[in-house]
Amino acid sequence: MKKALKIASLLGLILVALLASNLVSAAKKQVPEYVGSQACLGCHADRWSSWAGSHHGTMVLPINDPSDIPGYDKATEEQKEELRKADYVISGGRFVAKDHETGKLSFLKFEWHHDEGYWAEYDDAGVVWQDRCMGCHVTGSPKAGLGNEPTEFGIGCEACHGAGRDHITSKGDPSKITLNVSSDVCGQCHNSGYTRDGNRWVYGYRPADKLLELDGIVPKPIDPNATPNLGHHKTYGEWMVSGHGQKAINDLKANDHASGACLECHTQEGKEAADHDETITLDKNAEYAAISCVTCHRPHGLGLAMDEKNLCATCHNASLAEGTTVKPGSTPHHPTKEFFQGWGAAGGITSTGNVHKDVTCQECHMQNNNHLMKVIRPDDPNLNEDSADSCMVCHSDASRETRGAYLDMWQEFTSSKIETLRADVTAIEAAVKAGATLTADQKLQLDTAKTNLLYVEADGSMGAHNFDYAAKILAAAQKDLSAVKAAVVK
Ligand code: HEC
Ligand code: HEC
Ligand code: HEC
Ligand code: HEC
Ligand code: HEC
Ligand code: HEC
Ligand code: HEC
Ligand code: HEC
Ligand code: HEC
Repeated sequence: MKKALKIASLLGLILVALLASNLVSAAKKQVPEYVGSQACLGCHADRWSSWAGSHHGTMVLPINDPSDIPGYDKATEEQKEELRKADYVISGGRFVAKDHETGKLSFLKFEWHHDEGYWAEYDDAGVVWQDRCMGCHVTGSPKAGLGNEPTEFGIGCEACHGAGRDHITSKGDPSKITLNVSSDVCGQCHNSGYTRDGNRWVYGYRPADKLLELDGIVPKPIDPNATPNLGHHKTYGEWMVSGHGQKAINDLKANDHASGACLECHTQEGKEAADHDETITLDKNAEYAAISCVTCHRPHGLGLAMDEKNLCATCHNASLAEGTTVKPGSTPHHPTKEFFQGWGAAGGITSTGNVHKDVTCQECHMQNNNHLMKVIRPDDPNLNEDSADSCMVCHSDASRETRGAYLDMWQEFTSSKIETLRADVTAIEAAVKAGATLTADQKLQLDTAKTNLLYVEADGSMGAHNFDYAAKILAAAQKDLSAVKAAVVK
């Protein structure tokens, strides 16, 4: 591999030199539109190297020699004989060999489980890779059955930035290459069931295109209210119908108070600007990428774009300064971070910890990488018996019924308490309307309780994020409201 790389990067340099010379227009005719990732190395070494180590960069690797075969020394003689036919390794563990007459690559009989380190028989042995799989695992794939050669084996720069020739011949003119932060770029592959003209994958997508506007595209809709089905590759479809997809933009555009400051949490464009201490203005006619794949994932190295522990709290918070509380009489917006951590409610309510303080948001909300961000409830009647619910990973010692019972208890206590206390508020307000007067202290008690009821509700989990804190806030509200009620409601 090392040798192949050296030659390839040398070729890249020659290409750049050739193109930069005054032979440009002649060269342009010879150089194909898609130039391959090696051609970008010379000028973008930083991006290139984080990409090259990622699963995109190592997706399809050539095998020139048995030493290129991962796990070769652990293979039996029979396996070694089969493996020596391999021309490429896919995803680090599946092998394909080329039929030199037809150009077809077929899977060999064995696969290497690289994480656990053992060999096994491969179920799809004999399957032709180009006909069944290739489209989502390479750059510039043709339609299935209409050609064997993509523009590059592997997920190269041009899968996300489009054909690179003109950008290179212009020595890096940024207007001659696509930079698109929308989820469509990733969704061309990270989808399941999205087809074009009945093909197995979306062929012919270019990164400036809108995925859903391609001719002949047939998306497979996902019901956001159904129990998440934890199959593979559905990421784009799930994201689309989650709060992070179009909803994040539509709700904002429909809101009369919307301004540029709101974009920071509702769009990738706003998040990117905020990361550079800038703000952008809101244009209600413009299109935004919503909270896209690259808001959370780095596009080259593929790691998370923010610290794993604070990823969700970056936006799911009420912007309270550390240790402060919401103002009595105000309407808090999504204080999920603060509520989860057990602080922020109005009045003298002391902070609590949280039994789940070391559990990340995604551990409960993204079971099996579901991008609906939806908690899979243990008491969901549609949940398959052998599917995992969101609490199971850590609480397998308790039965599903027990896990569900805790969740129900938390939420039922919280919602019925809020309902009773709202009735108290209504009674007090009716008395005031009928002529009763409140002292300044009573007015403060009423405002504090009202805001705190909203605070518990606006967290979004109906007590489940931090039951101890919910119970404490509601007990304080009850005390305040009964005192005021006793004084003014006859
Ligand atoms: C999986 C899709 C994907 C692949 C593959 C990819 N990129 Fe990117 N790239 C992006 C996205 C999305 C951005 C913009 C967001 C960002 O900068 O983090 C970006 C940003 C960039 C930028 C910076 C633009 C700017 O000014 O912010 C450069 C340069 C770049 N990529 C070059 C490359 C090169 C070279 C390769 C191949 C080695 C490559 N990219 C592979 C998706 C990709
Ligand atoms: C519609 C696009 C698409 C098609 C078609 C497709 N894949 Fe994938 N594949 C993906 C994506 C996206 C991933 C990334 C991981 C994920 O989201 O599950 C992936 C991941 C993988 C992985 C690595 C993860 C794992 O499960 O071990 C392997 C191996 C793999 N695919 C093999 C195949 C094979 C074999 C076929 C053909 C039978 C195929 N793929 C067809 C999109 C596709
Ligand atoms: C001859 C040097 C050179 C080569 C080769 C080159 N680029 Fe660039 N590229 C540049 C320069 C210069 C810029 C503009 C300054 C910057 O953003 O770093 C740029 C900008 C970019 C941008 C940002 C565009 C924008 O709108 O801001 C992307 C994406 C990009 N290059 C991708 C690629 C890809 C993919 C390849 C390989 C196909 C490639 N580049 C090859 C020099 C090069
Ligand atoms: C050309 C198809 C294609 C495109 C475009 C693409 N991916 Fe992937 N991606 C894959 C496949 C296939 C895998 C599985 C690789 C493997 O497991 O070996 C994968 C793997 C991943 C992973 C898992 C990495 C890991 O370490 O297991 C992440 C995260 C990811 N992609 C994010 C993105 C994002 C974000 C974008 C858009 C900026 C994107 N992908 C664009 C096909 C694609
Ligand atoms: C600190 C990040 C952040 C900022 C800034 C922000 N939002 Fe939000 N917004 C969120 C989050 C998180 C949600 C989802 C809340 C939930 O469902 O728990 C949301 C949801 C919404 C909703 C839909 C749910 C609802 O409450 O009706 C609207 C409308 C909305 N925001 C409008 C705005 C407006 C208008 C602004 C600017 C004045 C703004 N947002 C600024 C993070 C933010
Ligand atoms: C709100 C943040 C967020 C958004 C938006 C998001 N993801 Fe993710 N994604 C995550 C987190 C958190 C994980 C959990 C795994 C991890 O720690 O990497 C994950 C996991 C994944 C994985 C599996 C990684 C692995 O290691 O197996 C893939 C593939 C992926 N995301 C692709 C995408 C794509 C494609 C999009 C856009 C359609 C997207 N994600 C949008 C946060 C996000
Ligand atoms: C860049 C900001 C941002 C990040 C990061 C983010 N979110 Fe969100 N999230 C939002 C906004 C904004 C909304 C609401 C959009 C709307 O309803 O208009 C939302 C909506 C949601 C919803 C749906 C709420 C509902 O009532 O329907 C859930 C659940 C959610 N996010 C969970 C998460 C999780 C879990 C993570 C971390 C893996 C995360 N979010 C990361 C901004 C963000
Ligand atoms: C211990 C598991 C757990 C953790 C950790 C967790 N949540 Fe939740 N979350 C829940 C449950 C349970 C619900 C209520 C779901 C329901 O009613 O079906 C919920 C509800 C929500 C909602 C309301 C929308 C919805 O999907 O019902 C949002 C938004 C949310 N959580 C965001 C977050 C954020 C942000 C974090 C991290 C600060 C987080 N959650 C951490 C379990 C968790
Ligand atoms: C990532 C791991 C993880 C997940 C996911 C998780 N928990 Fe926990 N849970 C913990 C830890 C750690 C504790 C605290 C130590 C202990 O008591 O075992 C805890 C404690 C608890 C307790 C004891 C509370 C008390 O007051 O003593 C209950 C009940 C509970 N969890 C229910 C749930 C429910 C319901 C879900 C799903 C919505 C869930 N947990 C999801 C890790 C998790």
